[in-house]
Amino acid sequence: MLRFVVSILLCFSTIAPFLSSIAIAELITCSGIVPMRYRSDKISITDFGGVGDGRTLNTNAFREAIYRIQHLSRRGGTLLYIPPGVYLTESFNLTSHMTLYLARDAVIKATQDTGNWPLVAPLPSYGRGRERPGGRYMSFLHGDGLRDVVITGENGTIDGQGDVWWDMWRQRTLQFTRPSLIELVNSKNIVISNVLFRNSPFWNIHPVYCSNVVVRYVTILAPADSPNTDGIDPDSSSHVCIEDSYISTGDDLVAVKSGWDEYGIAYGRRSFGITIRRITGSSPFSGIAIGSETSGGVENVLAEHIHLYKVGVGIHVKTNIGRGGLIRNISVSDVYLENARKGIKIAGDVGDHPDNGFNPNAFPVVKDIAIKNVWGVNVLQAGLIQGLRSSPFTGICLSNINLAGVTPKGSRSPPPWKCSDVSGASHQVSPWPCSELTSTLSIDTCSTHF
Ligand SMILES: *[C@@H]1O[C@H](CO)[C@@H](O)[C@H](O)[C@H]1NC(C)=O
Ligand SMILES: *[C@@H]1O[C@H](CO)[C@@H](O)[C@H](O)[C@H]1NC(C)=O
Repeated sequence: MLRFVVSILLCFSTIAPFLSSIAIAELITCSGIVPMRYRSDKISITDFGGVGDGRTLNTNAFREAIYRIQHLSRRGGTLLYIPPGVYLTESFNLTSHMTLYLARDAVIKATQDTGNWPLVAPLPSYGRGRERPGGRYMSFLHGDGLRDVVITGENGTIDGQGDVWWDMWRQRTLQFTRPSLIELVNSKNIVISNVLFRNSPFWNIHPVYCSNVVVRYVTILAPADSPNTDGIDPDSSSHVCIEDSYISTGDDLVAVKSGWDEYGIAYGRRSFGITIRRITGSSPFSGIAIGSETSGGVENVLAEHIHLYKVGVGIHVKTNIGRGGLIRNISVSDVYLENARKGIKIAGDVGDHPDNGFNPNAFPVVKDIAIKNVWGVNVLQAGLIQGLRSSPFTGICLSNINLAGVTPKGSRSPPPWKCSDVSGASHQVSPWPCSELTSTLSIDTCSTHF
């Protein structure tokens, strides 16, 4: 027992060194990852002609307000206040040292003018748009190379009005990859809190090549049948902390990524130091996901206190042949699942390829994944762990997991776990997982985690 406790502490210090200084606080939070800012310089969108009547196009007001922040910079940065009202606008770029502050009942609403939507270059780690070759529609709120940006307020709304984009996807008329609601590229010291994100055309919050990003107290909503509306996708980013949020969308709630096949391998930028805690939500796909684009590698992820209901897969590590990338030191604990198709899935055959140029010998490496304290009711299948014959998954350690299955009509028991090309251990897991996992959690098999 003592050894167990000691190694939990060790695990904390290896997984999230940036947390160790605040680990003594009663409730562990993301505080401290991004320095706090007070902005004494404040402007309002109405100073720049903004009209919140839901009809007037406010693109110039946003661009001019942000131009003013960028070019007449004030010590400590500037807060841009959005008063109550509905501000229709085209996409716009944020700038450094700014706070975008949405009052209660303020809505920043995207136009549905898809024909005039600006394009940006593909991300080098993807080599092309995620859905279509070539460039991508710029995210609704966009930032590249920024420092010190806060998006916050009194739970105002950023509304992507994504239904026109979802229809284009359904009708296969998209020319380029749909825009995310917010994408920040190459940026640092970002806080997104107390905002409601609604109906993103594509992924909701996408920090890529970023560090020190905090997302907390957000609500993210999109219909369950809206395509690819992932909640938060930290991508080739480090020191990202996501907590105390409600996410209910049409795709993965949180998915940690790092680039796609040969492009991601060449770019070689991993995601690491990712903390995800106290997330509640629902999705037809995954609750907490690693992947499937993980070619730069994903290391040191801690997910805890996750509550999922009506979910496809509770915890999902997904990669593929051709993807390369090292996925390791993933620790997931204290998960409650209600009505899930699958509790836990770790698989090496998920997701498509950008083109035929992927290297069929680029095998992903998946090791040291610890999942503990998982409780589920109405879980159709408890688990599936399928490694690759040429690259078996190792150090997969499960403990204290109870996934009460549903017995299908005509069967005597719920479907068993399925395992192949995997090694590791399991302890107090019900239903019993599989003989590939030994029944004792020894330091040799589960070194970092137990
Ligand atoms: C916004 O940023 C993108 C990508 O950095 C850039 O291509 C575009 O020109 C910028 N748009 C404006 C209006 O500044
Ligand atoms: C905003 O929403 C968050 C998350 O639901 C909640 O914790 C917070 O109290 C709300 N804040 C305000 C000002 O209503």
